[in-house]
Amino acid sequence: MLGVADMSDLAFGIGVQILSEESILHVYLACTVNFAREMCDCGARAFENDALDHALFPRHLRTLENENPIHEFRVERLKQRLLNPAWRYVLATHDSGHGHARVVGYAGWVVPRQVNEQEHGKDENSTGNHVKPEAGTEDAAIFPPGMDVEVFKHTMEIIERTRKELLGDNENNVWNLCSLAVDPEFQGRSIASNLVTWGLERADKDHVPAYLESTPAAVRVYTRLGFKELKKLHVLKDNKSHNLTVMLRTPDRIAET
Ligand SMILES: CC(C)(COP(=O)(O)OP(=O)(O)OC[C@H]1O[C@@H](n2cnc3c(N)ncnc32)[C@H](O)[C@@H]1OP(=O)(O)O)[C@@H](O)C(=O)NCCC(=O)NCCS
Repeated sequence: MLGVADMSDLAFGIGVQILSEESILHVYLACTVNFAREMCDCGARAFENDALDHALFPRHLRTLENENPIHEFRVERLKQRLLNPAWRYVLATHDSGHGHARVVGYAGWVVPRQVNEQEHGKDENSTGNHVKPEAGTEDAAIFPPGMDVEVFKHTMEIIERTRKELLGDNENNVWNLCSLAVDPEFQGRSIASNLVTWGLERADKDHVPAYLESTPAAVRVYTRLGFKELKKLHVLKDNKSHNLTVMLRTPDRIAET
């Protein structure tokens, strides 16, 4: 049923759903950078109407010349995450039977520091920051032309401050969902729910909470999966109605160890 040869690079399948007689959905643990470009294409389609994405990459800064660097910036950032043991990506692909399995969704988690250290050893040079920033918020030069760096800094500052405020010493002791996207063509088929559930099962097993900042589009999905709202964040100065919802799901007590 696998549509592409390099599927064998993936660690293991975690589920299969039949969508119709001709098409199959696979949900896999991604452990290779080979899918970075297709994942970014999928993400671009999913976030096409997202207000924060528009603010980070505003139309007035976008030109034909910088369209490609923006995409390359995203692909490189994703490759770094896929190679970073603190990150776990789960991927959904769709096989329409024409020899190519297309990426139709993904979820990116940062695992609790303790879990990462147990599996990959302790980093003696650790600065205390579990996941090193991929791009310093001061280092505007490495951001692509077309990005509004002020919006990026402002948003990250609010998100990081809130995480410290709400989680305190447990800041790195959560399964943190940092990224979720499903291709619009495939939305409403429980793909996101399946991708998120993969991480929630691990959080339950580790007896730690799951934490995230939700776009307006995803709040109902997370609520159905047991997340509760902690706080609303207004990250866009010129858009008072848009907010991110900070959500937490406590571990399921009956999860097996
Ligand atoms: C938010 C997002 C990830 C949801 O993906 P999805 O795969 O459509 O999510 P699901 O299918 O699991 O659930 C979506 C809805 O479909 C419904 N649904 C799922 N399977 C269904 C089925 N078989 N039949 C009918 N409805 C179904 C769910 O009940 C849910 O409804 P609700 O939102 O009214 O509660 C997707 O819309 C997206 O990528 N949005 C843009 C990017 C974004 O905001 N990402 C979140 C970052 S925090």
